[in-house]
Amino acid sequence: MTKKYKPISNKFPHLLHGGDYNPDQWQEYPEVLKEDIKLMKKANCNTMSVGIFAWAALEPEEGKFEFAWLDDVLDSLYENGIYTVLATPSGARPAWMAQKYPEVLRVNEDRTRILFSARHNHCYTSPVYREKSRIINTKLAERYKDHPGVLIWHLSNEYGGECHCDLCQEEFREWLKERYGTLDKLNQTWWSTFWSHTYTDWSQIESPAPHGMNSIHGQVLDWKRFVTYQTVDFMKEEINVLKGITPEIPVTTNLMGTYPVLDYWKFADQLDVVSWDNYPLWHGEKEDWKLASDIGFVHDINRSLKGGKPFMLMESTPSMTNWQKVGKLKRPGMHLLSSIQAVAHGSDTVQYFQWRKGRGGFEKFHGAVVDHVGHENTRVFRDVAEVGETLQQLDPIVGTSVEPEVAVIYDWENRWAIDEAKALRQADMGSDYEKTCKKHYREFWKRGISVDVINMDCDLSKYKVVVAPMLYMLRDGVGKKIEEFVKNGGTFLTTYWSGIVDDHDLCFRGGHPGPLREIMGIWVEETDALYDDDKNYVVIKDDNELGITGEYEAGILCSLLHAETAEVLATYKEDFYAGRPALTVNKFGKGEAYYIASRNEERFLNDFYDTIINKLALGKILDMELPAGVTVQKRTDGENDYIFILNFTGDEQELNMKSVNELTDIFTGEEITGQIKLGAYGVKILTK
Ligand code: GLA
Ligand code: ZN
Repeated sequence: MTKKYKPISNKFPHLLHGGDYNPDQWQEYPEVLKEDIKLMKKANCNTMSVGIFAWAALEPEEGKFEFAWLDDVLDSLYENGIYTVLATPSGARPAWMAQKYPEVLRVNEDRTRILFSARHNHCYTSPVYREKSRIINTKLAERYKDHPGVLIWHLSNEYGGECHCDLCQEEFREWLKERYGTLDKLNQTWWSTFWSHTYTDWSQIESPAPHGMNSIHGQVLDWKRFVTYQTVDFMKEEINVLKGITPEIPVTTNLMGTYPVLDYWKFADQLDVVSWDNYPLWHGEKEDWKLASDIGFVHDINRSLKGGKPFMLMESTPSMTNWQKVGKLKRPGMHLLSSIQAVAHGSDTVQYFQWRKGRGGFEKFHGAVVDHVGHENTRVFRDVAEVGETLQQLDPIVGTSVEPEVAVIYDWENRWAIDEAKALRQADMGSDYEKTCKKHYREFWKRGISVDVINMDCDLSKYKVVVAPMLYMLRDGVGKKIEEFVKNGGTFLTTYWSGIVDDHDLCFRGGHPGPLREIMGIWVEETDALYDDDKNYVVIKDDNELGITGEYEAGILCSLLHAETAEVLATYKEDFYAGRPALTVNKFGKGEAYYIASRNEERFLNDFYDTIINKLALGKILDMELPAGVTVQKRTDGENDYIFILNFTGDEQELNMKSVNELTDIFTGEEITGQIKLGAYGVKILTK
């Protein structure tokens, strides 16, 4: 039996290809709008995202609406076989609104209210903003509810940031009252006796500020939770209006990868489809293949957010990104490769910012399908058309998914808590956590093993292996869940700086790693933070069950632990903790739990995961050693497999396919035998 998710919309059950289209900027240029349609067809585009920042064009004066131009756009797109992702315009407000109702403008952390400016900077609490959004969204939904071209709603744009206005402060307090009931409970939970911060009235509680609160971690953490809550609440109001009028049209909003401010797991349930905006710095400071692995990690988060359901690549650049430190162009091949990469991880779309470069404004030099020259005879246009042509041949992939045996836990609240902890190293510990998760993930990516990237609340029972680096926070019940997972035969891996605090950022009593202590069979007594140049070594014990030997460099963070029931696989070589355990495994129930006590050089992760993967016979998509920089990803409907071979190096690569049977090239229909070659930044899609 094949298993497929439904397409994003039954109106057009194909892979979507297109971009952000801003016809509101070109109303004085009717010939350009006409030309756009011709060019869209030439570029093999079938979808445009329309109206994202069009509020001022849709409601030029309060209560005066102008939809005629948008009618024309949607109609002429549809008549030409191009579908619409229709946006609600709340990502940027018109000037008249900011002037008349200053409360819609955001107040920064330092408590200054911004002037009318930019975008993505309104107050999510403001009743006026919510009401104005409700009105315009109602009008849009009513007007286009039966439009055959509208595929999906694009809610706002990149919800983000936080507002510290009085309205938000008040809502924060209400949210806290709901959560804690009494001030007593709140004070206890926040450990607010510290530095005499006991609150005696709710009105004393404020959001964090550079000149204010930042020392009560429970409070800071709750503020971050509230920001997510309030943003989701605003989004829910947008959704409710749309669903009331167009229950059949799905909704999405464009997320921003691992954007640290918002916990995207709280968004996922509200959305019919997850989508995200991807702007990697190709050919930059990081080697392309390592960056590709990091991007794979984020694609996998987006697929995992809805339990494996295909997502949308809502934005990517056709060439360069104007706001980055260096606006380097994509090298030949990279556009197709990076677009197909998204599909390989579960995206059913490849979309861009932006269709056409505007003549003015902040983004007039941002990469676009159509450049200022205005015709199709450009390298970028040809690259885009090639992606479109490729996607047209991939219909069977729509709705297929990925079925990993491995999960990596990357958790937003854990990141927030690590960031705030004021411990170990005063560097950006939050991004250090993200980087660490990505490094563990890479070991699977480079071997062509599928991975889900989940948060700690997800069901673990479907995986063989769960990797949870730096699992500092363990929310209520998570320890128990990991225990069940290992008892039932799962393999669990974690590292230094795990099992330290609970949901409220309160340290566990009775020894780290808290609820994981018995599962891991260890007690972590201390953790040493080292200077960048400090080195220690991890020496693998002879005759260990992993079958690895030798020593590896260690540094940055080294935990000093006692093996209780765990077996010691490696020990430290130097310093006062020479001889103490550095790597342990604990047999627990039917499973095993590994603890990596120190941050070790990459070679360690490579050798270590090699043995784990072999030991557990984890399924590699292709049973072979891949050349460095090449990955293999797979989508499947249970019967038919679609195998993507992606070369993220600038060199030709060869793969010996002798051991692989029954694969054909999806484009040529040729059976694959012997050697296959991938050109620089080359792609192959095979099917079984
Ligand atoms: C974001 C926004 C777009 C555009 C691009 C430019 O993703 O959503 O409107 O500004 O960045 O890279
Ligand atoms: Zn506010």
